[in-house]
Parts: sequence; C-alpha cells; structure tokens
Amino acid sequence: MTRQRIILDCDPGRDDALAIAMALASPDELDVLGVTTVAGNVPLDLTQRNARLICELCGHPEVKVFAGAESPLKLAGVTAEHVHGGSGLEGMEVRQPAMPLQDRNAIDFIVETLETSADDEITLVATGPLTNLALAFAGRPEILPKIRRIVLMGGACREGGNVTPSAEFNIHVDPDAAHAVFACRRPLVVINIDVTNRVLATPAHADRLLNAGARPARELSRLLKPAGGARVEEFGPSGVALHDPCTIAWLLKPGLFETKLVNVSIETKGDLTLGATVVDFRGITGRQPNALWACEAASAEIIELLIDRIARL
Ligand code: BDR
Ligand code: CA
Repeated sequence: MTRQRIILDCDPGRDDALAIAMALASPDELDVLGVTTVAGNVPLDLTQRNARLICELCGHPEVKVFAGAESPLKLAGVTAEHVHGGSGLEGMEVRQPAMPLQDRNAIDFIVETLETSADDEITLVATGPLTNLALAFAGRPEILPKIRRIVLMGGACREGGNVTPSAEFNIHVDPDAAHAVFACRRPLVVINIDVTNRVLATPAHADRLLNAGARPARELSRLLKPAGGARVEEFGPSGVALHDPCTIAWLLKPGLFETKLVNVSIETKGDLTLGATVVDFRGITGRQPNALWACEAASAEIIELLIDRIARL
C-alpha cells in the first residue's frame, strides 16, 4: 500500500482525539502532514490545545498543528460540551502541551500544501465542521485537483440527526461550509452517524486498551469510557460511539465499510432541516453522484483496529 499523505482537520473532541492517535499510530499507511483545527465541539483555543496535547501524548511533538476558523462561515458557533466536557477531552487529565502551535493559519497551510502538491496527492480527513476546508477552497479552484479525496465524518439520513431530528453535528454547525465541500467535485467519502452510532466501545474495550500498551494507550483508554454527557438512552449505559476514528479506519481498511455512490446535497436554509444531508439513494433528482455514502460498518473489526493501532504507540 502506498503511504497516503493526509491533512487531518478536526475539532478535538474525545473521538477526534482517538482519530488523531489512530492516524499517528499508522505510519506505514499514513503520512500526517499536519493537523488543522477548527471550532466545533469546543472553542478553537481548546481544540488546538487538545490536538497538540494528543500529538505530544502519542510521542509526536514534531507534528505541525495549526489553528483555523474560530466560527462558522455565516452562522453563530455551536459547541458540544455536554458530550465532550468543558475541556473537550472529558475523562482525561488535561495539561498545557509543550509543543508549539504553528504561526501559520490552518487555512493557509491547507492552501499552500495543496498548491505545492501533485494532482491527486493529498487526502483531506475532516472530523469537525467543514469551515476550514470551505475557506481554503473559496475562490481557489486551481487547488482542487490536488485533492485525492476527502474523507469526512458527518451527516445523517436513516435514523435522523444527533443535534436536530434532521442534522448531524458537524454538518449542522456549518451547513454553508458543508455545501461548498459537497459541491467541490472531488471524491468524497462520507462516514455518517447512521453507521458510526453503531461503532460502540464498551468498558471491556477500554480495559483492553488500558492493559494493551504504554502510556498513550493507558491515557486514551479513558476516552472509551462514557463521559458525563453520554447518551445513555441511545447507546446504553456503557457505549461510546467512535464516530471520528471511523474515518481513519476507512483509510486503513476501506473493506470494513459498505458504501454507495450517491448524490448528497446539504440543506442550508430550512428552519427545521438546517444541516440535513439529503441523500438521493434512488437517483430520483438527476443530480450527479458526488459522494460514497457509508451504509454499513463492521463495528467489531473497527474497534479491534483502533485498539491494535493505539496499543502500538
Ligand atoms: C461528530 O460530532 C462531534 O461531536 C464528534 O466529534 C463527531 O465529529 C458526531 O456527530
Ligand atoms: Ca469531531
């Protein structure tokens, strides 16, 4: 397998943290060119700090971490402390990392990396609101061919959203950015909550990770245990949905997912449906397919992959 050159755009966030760790634990397959952060689960000053904290914990203080957009393109920001805690990493001991934040803005880093790359060279992995990507693409059509694909966590269809009955968090927070990204005409892989809601870690998984590796595995195992705001009614008393690590699992083993090539359009106006991902499974709109939409995920294997990789750190 050729090493995939990736930029990881994220809003850590408990599950984003696991995605970062899983990527850094997979150097044979993934070359992490940079971690770009955006406001989402918690404000930007915390997402960028958390990204650095996780890189450092994983033994990779050399990774370049950038801060990007502080708020969505048009709407007021929405955060999710009720899920991720006030720090964004509830359950972990949070300290100030020693590794620096890069001076350059995340959006400039994305643009410059694409500008200096070959066609089809860079994979963008997005596990937060899509604001940074949309700002990087705005008015820069010449950089788009450099993108090999965009693998993102976001969207909901089959069973509705997790923020409103229509919308999933990452799309809901910045539907205008999502609209721009879904219209960019580069290959998209959409790992949505229809599937990630079923990739549930249990306390038994947390204990295995706790005992499987060195300090990174021990500390990160706390993120496999429910936080205060866990949705007990949905996932049971002990399940933690591993939304964001599924993007990395797809990069490592796409065969763990069943996908369908469909048109996905973003609702940017509806009072009740803002941020909905409208998925044309039957091809009835005549709109061009623009995304591989995840329909099924091999949950047990994905969790094993996560434990196996993070235990290597
Ligand atoms: C997504 O929203 C965030 O809270 C998680 O980090 C994940 O990216 C799930 O809807
Ligand atoms: Ca996230």
